[in-house]
Amino acid sequence: MKLFLDTANVEEIRQAVELGVICGVTTNPTLIAREGRNFKEVITEIAGIIDGPISAEVVSVTKEEMVKEAQEMAKIHKNIVVKIPLIPEGLKAINELSKRGIKTNATLIFTVNQAILAANAGATYVSPFIGRLDDISHDGMDLIADVCQAFANYAYDTEIIAASVRDPIHVAQAAKLGVDIATVPYKLILQMAKHPLTDLGLAAFLKDWEKVKDK
Ligand code: G3P
Repeated sequence: MKLFLDTANVEEIRQAVELGVICGVTTNPTLIAREGRNFKEVITEIAGIIDGPISAEVVSVTKEEMVKEAQEMAKIHKNIVVKIPLIPEGLKAINELSKRGIKTNATLIFTVNQAILAANAGATYVSPFIGRLDDISHDGMDLIADVCQAFANYAYDTEIIAASVRDPIHVAQAAKLGVDIATVPYKLILQMAKHPLTDLGLAAFLKDWEKVKDK
């Protein structure tokens, strides 16, 4: 399973690239606002850190304006993927952009039907959200299972990105369900790597080594 980093924080991206475990980045207006920086500046910097898909989200709500934004974003770097919310105007924009060869990531997806529509419109990626369904007592992983099951029945080129991932269990479950990608916050990458028995085992190895290292 491919991992993308879900952040606009360039230091987190540098650290994750050094770990060698991510191959792309997703952002959204909230993640950009959290950095308090110029949008184009931060996306350009991210493109210089990682050579992989970088999702940047439009903030327009009409097809014409979304397409205009997307064309400007595509000029920033060849790796830019335009994130489009799954509203009817967004489907029109995805359809138009797919004809123009601009990659899209259909976001804020909460049903299988939204994912199917996005794939049919030519989205490069669909982003079903897990955590925000969990937040309202719906099992977000059920959505992932349903989208994976539906897509497996057809030869869609559209890739599934598990999004709104809130804990390492989500990542493991999404992998077992067969998503193409999970996009995760940096702190989750570190949590995924951590296990107390690994730490205890290493400490014991090093302690025992001390007994013979100078023999
Ligand atoms: O890419 C979508 C993701 O950033 C949303 O995550 O935790 O705000 O639901 P969250």
